[in-house]
Amino acid sequence: MAKSIELQEIELDHLDQVTGRIAIFVGSDGALDKVARRVNRLCKGAVDRAVQSEAFEKLSVADALVLAYPVGLAAEAVDIVKLDRRADALTARKAGVGLAKRRNGQNLLVLAGLLKQVAELTNGIALRDYRFDTYRTQLDTPQDGQITVMINRVDDHRDQINDVLAVCTGVHFTRDLISEPSNVLTTTEFADRLVALGELGIQVEVLEEDDLAKLGMNVLLSVGQGSASPSKVVVMQWNGGKSGDAPLALVGKGVVFDTGGISLKPALGMEEMTMDMGGAGVVAGAMMALAKRKAPANVVGLVGLVENMPSGTATRPGDVVTSMKGDTVEITNTDAEGRLVLCDVMWYAQDRFAPKAMIDLATLTGAIIIALGHENAGVFSNDDGLCDAFLSAARAENEGAWRMPLGTGYDKLLKSRVADMNNVGGRPAGSITAAQFLKRFVKDDTPWIHLDIAGVASVKSETAHAPSGATGWGVMALNRLVRDTFE
Ligand code: BES
Ligand code: MN
Ligand code: ZN
Repeated sequence: MAKSIELQEIELDHLDQVTGRIAIFVGSDGALDKVARRVNRLCKGAVDRAVQSEAFEKLSVADALVLAYPVGLAAEAVDIVKLDRRADALTARKAGVGLAKRRNGQNLLVLAGLLKQVAELTNGIALRDYRFDTYRTQLDTPQDGQITVMINRVDDHRDQINDVLAVCTGVHFTRDLISEPSNVLTTTEFADRLVALGELGIQVEVLEEDDLAKLGMNVLLSVGQGSASPSKVVVMQWNGGKSGDAPLALVGKGVVFDTGGISLKPALGMEEMTMDMGGAGVVAGAMMALAKRKAPANVVGLVGLVENMPSGTATRPGDVVTSMKGDTVEITNTDAEGRLVLCDVMWYAQDRFAPKAMIDLATLTGAIIIALGHENAGVFSNDDGLCDAFLSAARAENEGAWRMPLGTGYDKLLKSRVADMNNVGGRPAGSITAAQFLKRFVKDDTPWIHLDIAGVASVKSETAHAPSGATGWGVMALNRLVRDTFE
């Protein structure tokens, strides 16, 4: 969970009594500002000597030299961060990430003084200061420290900092959902956590299996029919914009666990499929972020929550089902279930909300990891303008995103022996045929982006803003896209 970060006006008295860590900032020119000079004086010139050293000269921007147990201070360490007052947003964020990494649960006092991008510095701290330790009964280090950021004219920065922290809370919500094991985050528990977003002014509805059957979402239902957990679709409406304005629709794959179904996955690594609700997790986090910062936009989030299990009631390979749209699907491989969940929710989203644009997110294919690794999500779109806007938003947030092609040549691979289409297209271009499948459920006049986040939702080593594990990838990019294009 996110630690609260306190903002205070700069106050240099009693610095010698501060415990934990203190961070100060020195530009590449090595000049000490008023704050750094005060710390330098208290620790008898140690800051000055560090800054004059070759080590400081060689230090990369946004990295820090650490003075451990400095004389004259109660603090355990002073982080001397190499950062210019006018450093750009992502550099300031990177410096914040470094501070959070070194903090390790202790108090941290950040003497940000006159830094221009103090909001992004704070964002970096908050983004990186995350642990999922719900199920650890023993922690290696106590995590009770407080983070304080001191700035000149704190009131000038407060709104901007509150906005980035609102978004960061959404990122952490997504990470929590993705990190939860599947025996805890069942479809019902997931829906309950989304219903709780009602407190933020989001209108939340839960559609149950009988509702979904009435709507004709047989393809979605076919995925969950082998599981003891009921399938659900949750609709979250944030109406912060003009009433009557068509919303942006965000649609998420929420497979709370993906065994593959009767097309069972191999045992090795199957536990990773606890994150197969990542798309739904990002939609939930983005909705939370928008509501927390009271975004003046209309956005609707829809998630399909199902569990893909093998059992006597599970879908068999070769079964044919009819979608809400009316098209029939032969399910040749029950492990290609994400597209089956999304197709009905996407159709429902367009049918009910006639959205201005639609973006779906899903941990859809292993093939996207083969193509792009863990650095970039795959971006597929039928609309260059919308796609470019998303790619710039992702770049500005340092969330990797790379456009992939669509095309009728790939679409042919979905031919079925008996039905309108097959749910798989064979091994070549696996991520693209998955996107082509989804495209059949996008109306011609709906600008649409499909984000395949299988490689970026949860990773084994730390990223630019997250420790290893769930990243929350996409919450910031979607928030920025809404801010820049839909407000
Ligand atoms: N949830 C998986 C995709 C996935 C793989 C997500 C690795 C995260 C990490 C998806 O449902 C799946 O099983 N896809 C199959 C599709 C195939 C059967 C056409 C795949 O990628 O192997
Ligand atoms: Mn699968
Ligand atoms: Zn899956």
